[in-house]
Amino acid sequence: MKLWAGRFQKETDSLVNDFNASIDFDQRLYAQDIKGSIAHATMLGEQGIIPQEDADAIINGLKAILADIEAGEVEFSLGNEDIHMNIETILTERIGSAGKRLHTARSRNDQVAVDFRMFVKDEIPVIINQILDLEDVLIRKAEQNINTVMPGYTHMQRAQPTTFAHYMMAYANMFRRDVTRFEDCLERMDECPLGAGALATSSYPVNRERTAELLGFRKPTENSMDSVSDRDYAIEFLSACSMLMMHLSRFSEEIILWCSWEFKFVDLDDAYSTGSSIMPQKKNPDVAELVRGKTGRVYGDLVSLLTVMKGLPLAYNKDMQEDKEPVFDAIDTVEQCVPVFAAMLDTLTIRPKDMSRAASKGFINATDCADYLTKKGMPFREAYMVVGRLVNSCIKSGDTLDTLTLRDFRAISDLFDSDIYQALELKHCVGERKVYGGPSPEDTTRQIQSVKDFVAAHRPEQAQE
Ligand code: ARG
Repeated sequence: MKLWAGRFQKETDSLVNDFNASIDFDQRLYAQDIKGSIAHATMLGEQGIIPQEDADAIINGLKAILADIEAGEVEFSLGNEDIHMNIETILTERIGSAGKRLHTARSRNDQVAVDFRMFVKDEIPVIINQILDLEDVLIRKAEQNINTVMPGYTHMQRAQPTTFAHYMMAYANMFRRDVTRFEDCLERMDECPLGAGALATSSYPVNRERTAELLGFRKPTENSMDSVSDRDYAIEFLSACSMLMMHLSRFSEEIILWCSWEFKFVDLDDAYSTGSSIMPQKKNPDVAELVRGKTGRVYGDLVSLLTVMKGLPLAYNKDMQEDKEPVFDAIDTVEQCVPVFAAMLDTLTIRPKDMSRAASKGFINATDCADYLTKKGMPFREAYMVVGRLVNSCIKSGDTLDTLTLRDFRAISDLFDSDIYQALELKHCVGERKVYGGPSPEDTTRQIQSVKDFVAAHRPEQAQE
């Protein structure tokens, strides 16, 4: 019999039972549901809302159910719809009438609100820790490649010289922002909705500060209607996940390009690549491609929940049961992608010779050539034009700037001297860019230290991995 059978004269149609039930997926909330109920029962006992011995029986009963679920000894029933009613029903079957007092001054609306919030709250430190592990890999790769010159691109055209370390630190900065986005989300969601009841609290003297404290929230939520209607935190979480995946996806795209024969800047480790069923020569970057592909699912998860919420009047509506699967899916996807991506990056081999070969073609020192003339007094726009003409004639003759003779240089401007050759050396070009944020070894070292300090300061203590 259903918990709410009193008002009804017919059994629920089996089609509706199947359609309505969420137990298949929301059983993932069992630990949070039990923790929430234990806090609620503790408070009910302390406030004298239910007899203390009933509170004790409820708490012990719930602890036993938790242990049994964890031992795989509990079967949930579809007829009991969701994890909340399943656990309450099992409790009452086990401890009798005391179990029927658990739901005093509570609704499934504030119950699911607090369970789901705790679930997301528990996963954020896990993801943050994974991102920080990825930062460790980036830092390691950067430290080993402070002097590894490679071409930097704009419009996918060789643009200016940079280093592999500078490149790695670009991504390290994106991931650092991702960490702070998750932290912000955690900070904002750290308010406890329990006690909001169905939407308008209750007439019992419930102590919401106490349940908030027992469940590790900073404070109770301010407004009970908002408390049961709000899924902003889940959307914000999905948005942080989407942004993280967007960064991983761009990075994946680069790695896919870099390990193609057209680039050959990196070699993937055999353990992190796959072969082809027909082409014997193939070594494919499947991990990077899958991370790029799975980014689409996480965006989908975000858009799903935004769309579920957009037309809902206050307060709870059953549509909101659709909040769980996108969030679970995003969590599973992100928590799978970040570590495998980090391991792939950690094991790949850099090919500095191929990077410098690519950097030495394509005139990536043309800006430096113009800067050389500018430093000798020519206005930059004029220098830009002069070097443009030089590049044009090099393209026709098959030369590069550094293969021109001094006579060739002087034919176009007598400001050129023999020191032009040093000015055009790629290591020199990179080394001279000592500006804050630039690729010079000095500043890259500073950037690495800055991310190192961030990682040390932001590792969550309670991440359960
Ligand atoms: N399974 C429901 C959900 O996930 C729990 C809340 C149900 N509340 C209600 N009034 N039907 O949203």
